[in-house]
Amino acid sequence: MERTFVCIKPDGVQRALIGEIVKRFENRGLILAAAKFMNVPRELAEKHYAEHVGKPFYNGLVNYITSGPVFAMVWEGEEAIRAVRQTVGATRPIDAAPGTIRHDLAAKMDRNLIHASDSPESAQREIDTWFRPDELVEWTSIAHPWVFGRKS
Ligand code: PPS
Repeated sequence: MERTFVCIKPDGVQRALIGEIVKRFENRGLILAAAKFMNVPRELAEKHYAEHVGKPFYNGLVNYITSGPVFAMVWEGEEAIRAVRQTVGATRPIDAAPGTIRHDLAAKMDRNLIHASDSPESAQREIDTWFRPDELVEWTSIAHPWVFGRKS
């Protein structure tokens, strides 16, 4: 089982898309492991986007994610990182495949609704950045064997 970090950005919250977006991950068979609705302190935003310091869009990214509340989550499942990224779609909504969140719900790269970890290393770092260990919920989904087969 793999875990990945996902964050519905302030535009997703303001446009009342939390339910729609969560539903897509639930429908995919992914399992929610943690969630919190929060304003993002600037320090946390800077830590999250540290690898982009110096890029032309860095300040805009930090301003964007601190501009209103976000819905931060951890999702779990087999190949959860790739599955979530596929469901989210390409970074630039105009390049996102039909059926993906960004294709169906977003228009612009600087309002692309959602962040999702892009590798196992990023997922671990981002989960540790946003959640304390005791905020991760250990539970058994009764749907698990119907989606993923036997638990390994
Ligand atoms: S990079 O340069 O390849 O590492 O960038 P990328 O991984 O594609 O994107 C990292 C995050 O930066 C956002 N981004 C932008 N925002 C606004 N304008 C421009 N030009 C731009 N380029 C990249 C992109 O949405 C990613 O945000 P998150 O929140 O990680 O999805």
